[in-house]
Amino acid sequence: MAAHQKRALVTGGAGLIGSHIVDLLIREGWTVRILDNLEPNTHRHGKPAWVNPKAEFVQGEVQDYGTMRAALEDIDVVWHEAAYGGYMPEMAKYVLVNSFGTAQLLEIIRDHKLPVKKVIVASSQAVYSEGAALCPEHGHVVPLIRPVEQLRAGDFDVHCPACGEATTSIATPESTPGGGETVYALTKVDQEKLVLLWGKQTGIPTVALRYSCTYGPRQSLFNPYTGVIAIFCTRLLNGKPPVMYEDGGQTRDLCFVEDIARANLLVAETDKLDGLPVNVGSGRATSVRDLAGIIAKGLGLGIEPLARGEFRPGEIRSLISDISRIRTIGYEPQVTLEQGIARYLEWIATQGPITDYFGEIEAGLRTKGIVQSVQS
Ligand SMILES: NC(=O)c1ccc[n+]([C@@H]2O[C@H](COP(=O)([O-])OP(=O)(O)OC[C@H]3O[C@@H](n4cnc5c(N)ncnc54)[C@H](O)[C@@H]3O)[C@@H](O)[C@H]2O)c1
Ligand SMILES: [Zn+2]
Repeated sequence: MAAHQKRALVTGGAGLIGSHIVDLLIREGWTVRILDNLEPNTHRHGKPAWVNPKAEFVQGEVQDYGTMRAALEDIDVVWHEAAYGGYMPEMAKYVLVNSFGTAQLLEIIRDHKLPVKKVIVASSQAVYSEGAALCPEHGHVVPLIRPVEQLRAGDFDVHCPACGEATTSIATPESTPGGGETVYALTKVDQEKLVLLWGKQTGIPTVALRYSCTYGPRQSLFNPYTGVIAIFCTRLLNGKPPVMYEDGGQTRDLCFVEDIARANLLVAETDKLDGLPVNVGSGRATSVRDLAGIIAKGLGLGIEPLARGEFRPGEIRSLISDISRIRTIGYEPQVTLEQGIARYLEWIATQGPITDYFGEIEAGLRTKGIVQSVQS
């Protein structure tokens, strides 16, 4: 990218990933504007102290036309990170913020012929549902999300769509057919398809980054619906055992937020991945049970996690990102899980008293059917 093309809009720039992108861009000499509504579930005490003072900060909603039109003035590259996320019970709000908000952003750039040179959108590995797997008989298969009846019966395996045998998860490349089987995932599919399609129609370069589970300093300690690492930490710090769904054997591809931020800069600086969905993650699987152990150890606590025979319909059993595509432009995850968790715990220690918000909303999750029980 030419030297003068260095004005960025980072939507969601007060959040976990957005704020780290902002810091990196400012270090690299960019002029940065943040658009963030300071979503109360995520930011209980208003604007967080980590919002980079060298960035222009605009508080507003991405789905508000006038706000977005003004925020897009004089911008070269848009990093669209703002989204309604997690396992929230709402449906319409996801569609409004994520799907509608993204479509409108793109229309504004097109209709006002704004000189935007690239749009990078935050997608998610949630678009893959269960991702790629191996069946002992059929080889490479793409299983569907597990039916609720199966989970209710206490069978947590991912079965082959052809023969029903239990499969083994393998790294999922971008070519894997996706879909989205939660409201959140559906809107992530919408966002990335809208952006990539619009890029083809307008000729403006685009990239959709499919992040795996991202964690690190600044991950909201208030939002009980997101981030397994944040929830486990707040539980343990309150002397309570982390609650695992299923048997704790589900695995996550956990990626430190600074690695994710670096990937964002790398795709902006090259045209090699333009027009494509691109996985970003660690490429490694960690079980939720092992994760609970690593965090407890990091805190010097001997509290064992609980598996209470509960599950969340739509939850992915194990999904590992194949990161070969982003490796072609020089990306390599640099922070190990142990290092990353140590960094997160150091940060938490600076955040004052930690409340277990998860405990407060647990009953509601069951009432709404977001958490259900195995019937045995
Ligand atoms: N954290 C993860 O594990 C993960 C994984 C895959 C994809 N993603 C995607 O990455 C992006 C960033 O996620 P994050 O983890 O940094 O989340 P986050 O909640 O920490 O940050 C999102 C930011 O967007 C803001 N925001 C929310 N709704 C808004 C609205 N209507 N208008 C303006 N701002 C709004 C919030 O206030 C927040 O500061 C999201 O698009 C998310 O879907 C995250
Ligand atoms: Zn099979």
